[in-house]
Amino acid sequence: MPNIRIDKVTFTYAGASEPVLRALDLVIPESEFVLLTGPSGYGKSTLALALAGLIPARVAGYMRGSVYFGADNISVMDIHKVSQHIGIVFQNPDNQLVQQTVEEEAAFGPENLALPRAEIAQRVEQSLAYTGMEGMRHEQIYALSGGQKQRIAIFATLAMRPSYMCRSLPQSALEVMRRMASVGCSRRGSSTSSTATWPSPL
Ligand SMILES: Nc1ncnc2c1ncn2[C@@H]1O[C@H](COP(=O)(O)OP(=O)(O)O)[C@@H](O)[C@H]1O
Ligand SMILES: [Mg+2]
Repeated sequence: MPNIRIDKVTFTYAGASEPVLRALDLVIPESEFVLLTGPSGYGKSTLALALAGLIPARVAGYMRGSVYFGADNISVMDIHKVSQHIGIVFQNPDNQLVQQTVEEEAAFGPENLALPRAEIAQRVEQSLAYTGMEGMRHEQIYALSGGQKQRIAIFATLAMRPSYMCRSLPQSALEVMRRMASVGCSRRGSSTSSTATWPSPL
């Protein structure tokens, strides 16, 4: 599996006077579980958007540098292509879920990849089984709890079979994530883990 390499990324939101990310270099080696922590407003979510290719494609601002997946520059790649390499789960699942029912959300990503029907059906079943939501497939998403929506956002991302998954979490969720890591959920397939502390303030 290729590394992710962030190569001198500087990003300034449209209308802002200072960059949020400044000449950032970071390599995420194959199979590593990386935890990026730092105070609110330091640009962690902005970096996640760059990793997902949403910066610069969908967010207004000025970017220099690139994010590479192996030799491929994801900063200029089609978003659908990026999502097959690097999946992102946002902090608030309401920003991510676009379908009415659990089952429709499970099918949405694979349908967008124009996969054969049998493959779509198989991925839907795997998503529901992986998160224990088989019995909720016809539920309306809006009526579910925040935790259930988080699970749907996770399986919707995994349904694209990305090589890496990036999760943006509030500080309060870190303990939950540590527990997930300790049971091998978040870091399935990871051989090592490391924690990267966000650089000192800009
Ligand atoms: N869409 C946006 N437009 C302008 N500024 C933004 C936008 N999103 C985030 N910012 C600003 O960028 C900085 C970093 O935000 P963010 O990446 O969300 O940090 P973190 O995830 O570490 O809390 C903050 O000062 C925030 O106000
Ligand atoms: Mg954030």
